[in-house]
Amino acid sequence: MSDTGIEKRKAEHLRLVREDSVLHSKPTLLSDIRLVHQALPELNLSDIDTTASLFGKPLKLPLMITGMTGGTEYAGELNRGLAALAADQGIAFAVGSQRVLWRHEHLLADFAVRDIIGEGVLLGNIGAAQLLHEPMDRIVALVSMIEADGLCLHLNPAQELVQEEGDREFRGVCEKITELNERLDGRLLVKETGAGLSPETLIKLRSSGVDCVDVSGSGGTSWTRVEQQRAVSERSQRLGRSIGDWGVPTAFSIIAARSVLGEQATVIGSGGIRDGLDVARVLAAGGNIAGFARSVLLQFMDHGAEGAAQWVEQLGEELRSVMLLCGARNCNELMHVPRVYTGELKDWLAAYGWPGQGRT
Ligand SMILES: Cc1cc2nc3c(=O)[nH]c(=O)nc-3n(C[C@H](O)[C@H](O)[C@H](O)COP(=O)(O)O)c2cc1C
Repeated sequence: MSDTGIEKRKAEHLRLVREDSVLHSKPTLLSDIRLVHQALPELNLSDIDTTASLFGKPLKLPLMITGMTGGTEYAGELNRGLAALAADQGIAFAVGSQRVLWRHEHLLADFAVRDIIGEGVLLGNIGAAQLLHEPMDRIVALVSMIEADGLCLHLNPAQELVQEEGDREFRGVCEKITELNERLDGRLLVKETGAGLSPETLIKLRSSGVDCVDVSGSGGTSWTRVEQQRAVSERSQRLGRSIGDWGVPTAFSIIAARSVLGEQATVIGSGGIRDGLDVARVLAAGGNIAGFARSVLLQFMDHGAEGAAQWVEQLGEELRSVMLLCGARNCNELMHVPRVYTGELKDWLAAYGWPGQGRT
């Protein structure tokens, strides 16, 4: 598609995601993770340590603003604002797809936010489809182009299929991921965009040497719904309606990622994260970090930089409270606190023969 087309599409995405009709109507299943209350935690609130790390850099809170945007004037403003928020709060930040920069170098300032984020974690972003169409050197160079700490590669076949101008070819991506991971010395994070990573996909990623993923599960923003609402053709509208809730729920995808990739892997749990209790459940399920896109974007759009900062602070406050109530002194201890898996999440775990994943 033309680059003007990409810019127009990005602007439409920013407009459409404001509507609640782009949310999955099925849940993340995070509420099926019941963390067990400890009335005698033997901890003071000041004992609670929420620090984490990503790509070797420290974070004050185990949080990340996942890739969203860039490439329009407003998107540049959002990237700069969200990068400043991430720097202030000590959380990680990823830009949206950098594809537009290959043709429009003058838009670099919308993505190059290293001066704003300082020593903080900054990640680049590109779609897996580009691995099939562009030389590997060009993909690798996206990292140095914005002085990033690593690159997020997004997998979004469901969105592409509904998008009228989307890709239809997905064969050959795994081999390219292996090569890209090697070229980046492991500074590769593979993510979905709201349809989750299944155990089967995670096994393929493990075979490609990937040990950093963002599950971006279903239950939050649905990109098949976004594309359905953008669509003009009857075909895309119908497909978008039928697979509007397609995906692997966030809670199950996080448990799967930890189980398949092992203890040493970095797992980001995202897709529909709304509050500090969700963040605690992400960590308990095996995530190192909780990520969010639409929720922080709406805070920023509706309440400005100050409102978004207050929202992140509140998330931290809620997380600290829940950690205390679980008796977890730090994020690592939270991963191992007592919990009960209930409802549909229990069905997903049983289907994969994982009753050992916590107390079901
Ligand atoms: C406005 C907007 C633009 C997005 N653009 C990208 C993108 O360019 N690259 C990407 O990997 N993900 C993109 N995403 C997907 C998010 O990173 C995230 O995976 C998804 O929205 C699910 O998280 P949420 O439920 O917290 O929104 C975008 C999300 C939003 C809201």
